[in-house]
Amino acid sequence: MTEERVVLTELKDGVLTITLNRPRKLNAMSHEVFAALGAAVAGASADRTVRVLIVTGAGTTFSAGADLDMVREFSSLELAPETFRATLRNMQSVFDRLEQLEKPVIAAINGACVGGGVDLALACDLRIAVSDAFMMIPEVRLGIIPDLGATQRLPRLIGVSRAKDLILTGRRVGADECLAMGLVNRVVPREQLASALTEMVADLKAGAPLAVGLAKQAIDRAWATDLRAGEELEAQLQSPLYRSDDVREGYAAFRERRTPKWTGR
Ligand code: COA
Repeated sequence: MTEERVVLTELKDGVLTITLNRPRKLNAMSHEVFAALGAAVAGASADRTVRVLIVTGAGTTFSAGADLDMVREFSSLELAPETFRATLRNMQSVFDRLEQLEKPVIAAINGACVGGGVDLALACDLRIAVSDAFMMIPEVRLGIIPDLGATQRLPRLIGVSRAKDLILTGRRVGADECLAMGLVNRVVPREQLASALTEMVADLKAGAPLAVGLAKQAIDRAWATDLRAGEELEAQLQSPLYRSDDVREGYAAFRERRTPKWTGR
């Protein structure tokens, strides 16, 4: 029997699609999944031809979150607290590295997005959900808290009040409510997911690669800084962009009324 890969990657036309591939376990994330996801992110970071990433799940589920085997493992009284914390930090760092990529990442939420699946979607830059998808952060119902970034990223994205509504209750939220909360950017019928992704990718590729990557960084780093320091960060990031080949190309293309040809330099 050939061993199935838990994470699939496909690079096409500058778009790297990363697919969680444990459909029988609703794409639950095991240690093996985190390792494979980390490797895919490292590969995307090193490959200049990758312009945009899409993260999705095999079948009709995005992800049912951390593998429940892990919950069992972590609740063992034999496990030293410091060992748990070191393991968790490693897992958190996979999502951090995804977030820190200087390339836009879209979560294609193709169905249930639960627990750590929400944390993963939150580490992406943009989210498109199919209309029958739902999100749920059920950790408190298991006697734990979200620990892959959701308590930090969710209030930043949708506000403290809404984040507490979702995290403290663990209730199930449909795609339309997610859209109303700003938790996803778009909701589309399932059969239109591929075309909605193509459209979003085209919009993201319309911008110069360096500029898109640094704009993302400037926004993400805003949380860790005050307004003045944030403006200084804009100046620091902008300065090399004004010396790039692409700014000259972007200006020339605008004057000549043509589509720019980006080199990422
Ligand atoms: N880890 C491992 N296996 C999981 C899983 C998880 N997080 N979530 C679901 N599965 C498995 C189920 O055990 C089941 O396997 P089985 O057929 O061998 O029994 C299979 O996936 C299908 O799950 P099921 O619960 O029957 O699907 P559903 O469509 O009725 O419900 C969910 C979907 C996502 C709402 C539900 O599975 C769920 O709540 N999962 C747990 C979510 C969770 O607590 N995640 C961890 C947070 S820390």
